[in-house]
Amino acid sequence: MDLIDKAAEGAALSKEEWLSVISDKEKYPDERLRNMASSIRDSVYGRKVYLRGLIEFTSYCKNDCLYCGLRRSNARAERYRLSPDEIVSTCVHGYSLGFRTFVLQGGEDPWWRDERLVPLVKKIRSVCPDAAITLSVGERSDESYKALRKAGADRYLLRHETADREHYSRLHPSDMSFDNRMRCLRTLKRIGYQTGAGMMIGTPGSSFETLASDMTFLQDLRPEMVGIGPFIPHHDTPFASEDRGSVALTLRMLSIVRIALPHVLLPSTTALATASSDGQIAGLEAGANVVMPNITPMGEREKYLLYDNKKISDEEDGDNLSSIMERFRRAGYKGSLERGDFRA
Ligand code: 5AD
Repeated sequence: MDLIDKAAEGAALSKEEWLSVISDKEKYPDERLRNMASSIRDSVYGRKVYLRGLIEFTSYCKNDCLYCGLRRSNARAERYRLSPDEIVSTCVHGYSLGFRTFVLQGGEDPWWRDERLVPLVKKIRSVCPDAAITLSVGERSDESYKALRKAGADRYLLRHETADREHYSRLHPSDMSFDNRMRCLRTLKRIGYQTGAGMMIGTPGSSFETLASDMTFLQDLRPEMVGIGPFIPHHDTPFASEDRGSVALTLRMLSIVRIALPHVLLPSTTALATASSDGQIAGLEAGANVVMPNITPMGEREKYLLYDNKKISDEEDGDNLSSIMERFRRAGYKGSLERGDFRA
């Protein structure tokens, strides 16, 4: 039995062991990892792909992450903020399309303090009682996470971005802290959110070592969801002329995460679909089981630009569910509008 078989049986691997799984392509070829991951996904979730309605509700952000097009220093970013009423109507529209999970994602926008966000979550909870509410609004206080949970939020996405402290400080300004990000993730788990962590692949300064740290971190945190996509440079950021992350390595990491965390809800991300024309299906083949079509009102969708050339039509369009479903069917998957909660 080699390392990846041990991981598949639930053993915790050391950082050095993960390093060899990630980097040794002779012993652990992509194809082997993909086949293992895909059959694990099939035995836990079948060929179902859970669809989430993504609402990018604010492009304001107080943070200055070096990789992100919405960073506060980017004076050229077009800023918008949907009103609470617009967000509720977007959910109601999404609900009528069939969506039973809404992902409210935004920059860290101070306008959305608890006094505004808590009533919004309550309102969505009351108009869409059987839908899951996922928040993705960054680092907040423990009290805020508790209040939002109590208001009806079920899940929370907060990528850790990298589990390597040094690397984290290369990607973020000095007023952001690795420890605080970790605190937030532990709090979210403790409060009872289905919690999503995750990392970009191929950011400047990343290496097989930083990915090995990501794996030991994920095995320790045991998040219910993991978001993984390639880094894609944005022209108005300090990383404008850096190389984009590798699609092949992204797919390899998706498979490794599926093997290490068999029950994880694992999206085939927009960044992956942007980096490669067949990226979305390739993500599913690698072990993913979630896709998050965009239901942000048209007009705003093209302003939420974390990176260049973000895919905004076709397979990302929540208003075009039938073509999404059809594409999945042709690839041997079945799009599902169920809530699709994490199953232990
Ligand atoms: N390329 C790829 N992903 C990015 N994100 C932010 N900027 C980029 C980029 N340039 C990801 C981060 C963040 C998520 C919302 O989007 O991982 O957590």
